[in-house]
Amino acid sequence: METRSDKVTLGMVGIGYWGPNLLRNFTQLDKCWMKICCDIDEKSLKNVQSQYPGIKTTKQYSDLIDDPEIQAIIISAPAIKHYEFAKLAIQNNKHVFVEKPLTLNIPDAEDLVRLAKEKNVKLMVGHLMEYHPAIEKLKQMIQNNELGEIYYIYSQRVNLGRIRKDENALWSLAPHDISIIMYLLESEPVMVNAIGKSYIQDGIEDVAFLNMTFPNNIMAHVQLSWLDPHKIRMTTIVGSKKMAVFNDMDTSEMIKVYDKGVENNSSPGSFGESLVLRFGDVVVPYIKMVEPLRLECQHFIDCIINDKQPRSDGIDGLKVVKVLHSAQKSLKNGGIPIPVGE
Ligand SMILES: NC(=O)c1ccc[n+]([C@@H]2O[C@H](COP(=O)([O-])OP(=O)(O)OC[C@H]3O[C@@H](n4cnc5c(N)ncnc54)[C@H](O)[C@@H]3O)[C@@H](O)[C@H]2O)c1
Repeated sequence: METRSDKVTLGMVGIGYWGPNLLRNFTQLDKCWMKICCDIDEKSLKNVQSQYPGIKTTKQYSDLIDDPEIQAIIISAPAIKHYEFAKLAIQNNKHVFVEKPLTLNIPDAEDLVRLAKEKNVKLMVGHLMEYHPAIEKLKQMIQNNELGEIYYIYSQRVNLGRIRKDENALWSLAPHDISIIMYLLESEPVMVNAIGKSYIQDGIEDVAFLNMTFPNNIMAHVQLSWLDPHKIRMTTIVGSKKMAVFNDMDTSEMIKVYDKGVENNSSPGSFGESLVLRFGDVVVPYIKMVEPLRLECQHFIDCIINDKQPRSDGIDGLKVVKVLHSAQKSLKNGGIPIPVGE
């Protein structure tokens, strides 16, 4: 018979907007057990008490840290608290799942990666989209060369809300798209530039347009906003053979593959028409959908139990923070190109 001792004991901090989704998923998994939830907000704790009467609640993060039974901590507090909470957890030999972005600067992210290695604990970042079955499908297609040589990728992540106070739209929204594109291409951008403007709150950009240059002449563009009439979460990949569109808002036809392209006309006597446009079928691949958040939570627990490196580990989190840092620098300097990491 399975007992609690066979399960990974968890603590969690930050039960605001996103935290309840993580809490729901972790409480549904077999191999873990949520012991304590922490939040400074009374209402958040009341919600936990009413929905999960078996889970203890506290306003003190130290209650999680000081509990020797807790093996791993889930951090879904505001980004500004990620470094402090993750560092304390790791220093106390606890595995950490921290929401994106890992930290708000490069030295803090580097410090967490170093500490996690030193303490031999798992550090995983909530780059949710790396666990999305549709992204997995796109990655397979790219690996199988179905799209041909990748020319460029662009994505849009816009909506009205959630407006943040501690970080701008770039830091809040772009981690998803940066991690998607890096995951698909299996490479990091070398150069970035970004522009953005603050319309609602002084100094906090509501809208940002980010450009990234990857090796092999691949470029990527990401449009980010919490001040937009549409809710769009879409990624378009243009390859030499085919083009694919991932629409995260379309649950029945998430990916469409367009057999469209431009080819050289090699037939004789075709003077003046050396380039031919190709129009073919549009295919909607079948995707076996599982909630990406469930896969992400399950992966964290699997990595702890089987001593595996998380897919979105601290190094992955650090890479995204480096892109964000350079993009922020560009944004504050009128959009000039900045080498990634500078
Ligand atoms: N993966 C995703 O798709 C996704 C979506 C939304 C948010 N997020 C991330 O989740 C995290 C939380 O975002 P949110 O939208 O839920 O924010 P939120 O402000 O709604 O919730 C944060 C919670 O943390 C609590 N908190 C703040 N300081 C605390 C402290 N010192 N001790 C204990 N609790 C404290 C707040 O009271 C609040 O309940 C952020 O890192 C955000 O980037 C991820």
